[in-house]
Amino acid sequence: MTLPQAQSLDVRTALKQGIHLLREAHVPSDTLAAELLLLHVTRRDRTWLYAHHEELLALETIELYFSLLHRRAAGEPTQHLTGKQEFWGLEFEVTPDVLIPRPETEHLIEVTLDRLAVRELRAGRNPKLTGEGLTTVDIGTGSGCIAIALAKELPAAEIYATDISAAALVIAQRNATRLGYQARITFLESNLLSAFSPASSHQSLVTNHQSLLFDLVISNPPYIGRKETSTLPIEVRDHEPASALYGGEEGYELYGQLIPQAARHLKPGGLLILELGHDSLPAVLPLLETPEWTKVHVTNDLAGIPRVLSAERT
Ligand SMILES: C[S@@+](CC[C@H](N)C(=O)[O-])C[C@H]1O[C@@H](n2cnc3c(N)ncnc32)[C@H](O)[C@@H]1O
Repeated sequence: MTLPQAQSLDVRTALKQGIHLLREAHVPSDTLAAELLLLHVTRRDRTWLYAHHEELLALETIELYFSLLHRRAAGEPTQHLTGKQEFWGLEFEVTPDVLIPRPETEHLIEVTLDRLAVRELRAGRNPKLTGEGLTTVDIGTGSGCIAIALAKELPAAEIYATDISAAALVIAQRNATRLGYQARITFLESNLLSAFSPASSHQSLVTNHQSLLFDLVISNPPYIGRKETSTLPIEVRDHEPASALYGGEEGYELYGQLIPQAARHLKPGGLLILELGHDSLPAVLPLLETPEWTKVHVTNDLAGIPRVLSAERT
């Protein structure tokens, strides 16, 4: 597609043409995507956009806008083009090295805060949470969204975050620094909880962490099956990191390692909070039907899909 006459393009027309271009390419949420890209190139907010429909855009702005629209039409996620995604009211930098935080993952934070408050009530303490005395770990932190949301909600908690991907940890640390939580979170490169195991090969890194037992283990692990690859949208399959997507051939394999490791690393009464794939529950629930676990709950997301599995260590 050739670029339109840049001189004659105002905000309203640019938006209309952007939506049309994306719609023709069958991009989902075409209006929102065109709007976000226009906001990004104009460095404005939505209020400005709708109050300045008639304003003419600069040539460079129009060129950049259309080049981003074409990249979106070819499959790149909007968030890779704008470099950001909101999660839990915070703005996260995202790159192709990390999973783009999803809205349904916010349910993990909600369930965690609910269950921690209930635990306090049961113990006869004030359910208003500060995280005082709590040691938590986010496994597979990616952009850092879960660990950083917890740091925001539990200002006194001690927080660890691990990932097997060194590249993801760079982004997570950058997000923690930009959002002002870097001093609150210890980031470690680790296969699940191996950095906290006595036999760890990370000796020099984790000597001080090895004896840790946690009050909370939380994770949104990769849970898509390799066998589902061909059914994934192109923006996911070709643009998000495979290590963040695939849990194995079936998808649920990593839970089989993570749940027994969590049992060894949780204090009695400690909480395990896991995000589930859309069809993971039947394979994962039996892993919690062992004497190590009690008070197992399933929470549905807004679409009615079982999304969060939570349990208490006996
Ligand atoms: C589904 S993404 C979740 C990212 C982020 N927590 C979120 O909710 O947006 C899974 C993350 O787990 C990491 N990961 C995959 N296998 C892992 C393993 N064996 N140990 C630790 N992290 C792993 C991936 O690199 C990726 O960052």
